[in-house]
Amino acid sequence: MVLLEANVVVGVLLVLALIQTPVEAGGIAIYWGQNGNEGNLTQTCATGRYSYVNIAFLIQFGGGRVPILNLAGHCDPQSNTCTQFGDQIKSCQRSGVKVFLSLGGGVGNYSLTSAADAKNVSEYLWNFFLGGTATAARPLGNAVLDGIDFDIELGSTQHWEDLAGYLKAYNRQRGRQRTSVYLSAAPQCPYPDRFLGDALNTGLFDFVWVQFYNNPQCQYNSSGDTANLISSWKRWAASVKTKRLFMGLPASIDAAGSGFIPPDVLTSQVLPVIKKTRNYGGVMLWNKYYDDQSGYSSSIIRYV
Ligand SMILES: *[C@@H]1O[C@H](CO)[C@@H](O)[C@H](O)[C@H]1NC(C)=O
Ligand SMILES: *[C@@H]1O[C@H](CO)[C@@H](O)[C@H](O)[C@H]1NC(C)=O
Ligand SMILES: *[C@@H]1O[C@H](CO)[C@@H](O)[C@H](O)[C@H]1NC(C)=O
Ligand SMILES: *[C@@H]1O[C@H](CO)[C@@H](O)[C@H](O)[C@H]1NC(C)=O
Repeated sequence: MVLLEANVVVGVLLVLALIQTPVEAGGIAIYWGQNGNEGNLTQTCATGRYSYVNIAFLIQFGGGRVPILNLAGHCDPQSNTCTQFGDQIKSCQRSGVKVFLSLGGGVGNYSLTSAADAKNVSEYLWNFFLGGTATAARPLGNAVLDGIDFDIELGSTQHWEDLAGYLKAYNRQRGRQRTSVYLSAAPQCPYPDRFLGDALNTGLFDFVWVQFYNNPQCQYNSSGDTANLISSWKRWAASVKTKRLFMGLPASIDAAGSGFIPPDVLTSQVLPVIKKTRNYGGVMLWNKYYDDQSGYSSSIIRYV
């Protein structure tokens, strides 16, 4: 009798434990736009493997510069052929994929010179890519993107928090179709990020995909040691205020100078640990072209 009750109690506790364990799956974020041979956005979203697509990059803006979108061989912004992706973005969104415009990148000419400059850039982004109304042609047609991604890697470290604030303020206004402006960021793994540290401290970023590559001090050690990577992840998890935190990785050995993690190591040694993080969001991959070559997302999707 006593034994039976003990078993019942254990059973109830087990059921409670199962109910209370968050089993929310993570998603994969992919960068698209820097290689003309990576398929279009319709194909990218039709894989069903990506939950977030970052269109890369707006390579020039701020400081009175004329904003320039660069999508490599996909289209020519000068002759306005990138508008073909407007309908494709909408079809991605209909299938549940969030689509962001990524600012910056590793090459380009961008910076913010003042809070007023940040406001001017926020107005441009709102009117030309988000829910606002542009007076001239919108580079990606009439698609209303879900948000703006900050991949700030050069130029000045100043005023990115101002830009984040002005962009988020549009959430309080009524857009023509969509009112939520999501913000994401791709800081480098050394904490805090030199360019985005202040911006991330605002707590305004919904999604943060940290680049755990090209930074030997905080990435996977190619001789098989995950300790640096995991302790760096934990530092970010404990420090950054965001709804969802992602592990950003190269999609193939060729995708970055260093930091590639073989998929079996990721799924067996890394994901089981980082998935315990309260705000774990998934994995970010650089980029669609390399993912096509390696099949990385196909290998990991069931475990993310
Ligand atoms: C995307 O690319 C595929 C393969 O080239 C093509 O068949 C399809 O028409 C393209 N989609 C759009 C919307 O252009
Ligand atoms: C404001 O941004 C536009 C791009 O939308 C740019 O052409 C213009 O020079 C900027 N104005 C100032 C004062 O920086
Ligand atoms: C970058 O922008 C600044 C400010 O407009 C300009 O003076 C400079 O020539 C640009 N540099 C390049 C390499 O285009
Ligand atoms: C990996 O770690 C070992 C031991 O700390 C170190 O000697 C080696 O240089 C590291 N390799 C890389 C690629 O960082």
